[in-house]
Amino acid sequence: MEKRKVILDCDPGHDDAISIIIAASERSTLDIAGITTVAGNVEVGKNTVNALKICELLKLDVPVHQGAAGPMVKPSEIATEIHGSTGMDGPELPEPDKTKEEQHAVDFIIKTVRSSKEKVTLVPTGPLTNIALALIKAPDIKDNIEEIVLMGGGTFGNWTPAAEFNIYVDAEAAKVVYESGVPLAMFGLDVTHQVIADKEIQKRLSSPDNEIAVFVSELLEFFGRAYKDHFGIEGGPIHDACTTMYLLEPDLFDMKHVNVSIETKGEFTYGMTAVDLLETTGLEPNTMFARSVDQEKFWDLFEEILVTYNEDE
Ligand code: BDR
Ligand code: CA
Repeated sequence: MEKRKVILDCDPGHDDAISIIIAASERSTLDIAGITTVAGNVEVGKNTVNALKICELLKLDVPVHQGAAGPMVKPSEIATEIHGSTGMDGPELPEPDKTKEEQHAVDFIIKTVRSSKEKVTLVPTGPLTNIALALIKAPDIKDNIEEIVLMGGGTFGNWTPAAEFNIYVDAEAAKVVYESGVPLAMFGLDVTHQVIADKEIQKRLSSPDNEIAVFVSELLEFFGRAYKDHFGIEGGPIHDACTTMYLLEPDLFDMKHVNVSIETKGEFTYGMTAVDLLETTGLEPNTMFARSVDQEKFWDLFEEILVTYNEDE
């Protein structure tokens, strides 16, 4: 089977890490051309170190390119209350020997998409700064992007009542992406809050002999505690993992083609994704919006993926 070429653009991040684990697994149908990092959960340099650590743990030999140090227009915002001061608190991974590439993430995205024989899918799971900058700097790449499969937004918020973190941090970048005309698949809070790794799921996934499953358990323990303390939710939604799960098994998700517009002006709604589910605007659909996921099949598949890592040993 021919693998789909992807670039994982991320700010790891507990759930970003899980998304990478899925993409890099034996079960995956993805060919990872590279990982690019962006300022988001914490400063971009820390996100890059985390990406390098994850690559080493997974023995994933792909280039890691560091990208934007902050949003396009406004100052950075970080989410240490959810991800800790390292951006991936919980597991203790060794300092990586692997180093980041010299080339900036935006230039790597442009070069990779331009020179690829097949179309490339971009998978952003952090703020959309790198993706927007690439589209602005090299609009010609649009034709060679298969799809942008992103985690962000939703019909409610987690950073403000109206806005989800990834979109809020760089709403101007999100606007560029949503208005780009490139096919989008969007995994917002509506669907990501359907895959909450509560205690029962954590128990089910735990497998002390499997190094990667142990890493996942440590991630979920910290992440779950942060969600409990901060939001009163029993367990962390593994938001970003929806993107790569969708690429592996699209049938797990119920998608609707709708128009989504990005709010960049509202006093209370900055960073909101206005999802036209009932088609009230008459605007052209620009996004495949994930409405729901088959939770049972999702966790079954994730468990199956973790087992493949044990077989690798
Ligand atoms: C998103 O924000 C980050 O905290 C997570 O990694 C995810 O990408 C959820 O709002
Ligand atoms: Ca993320």
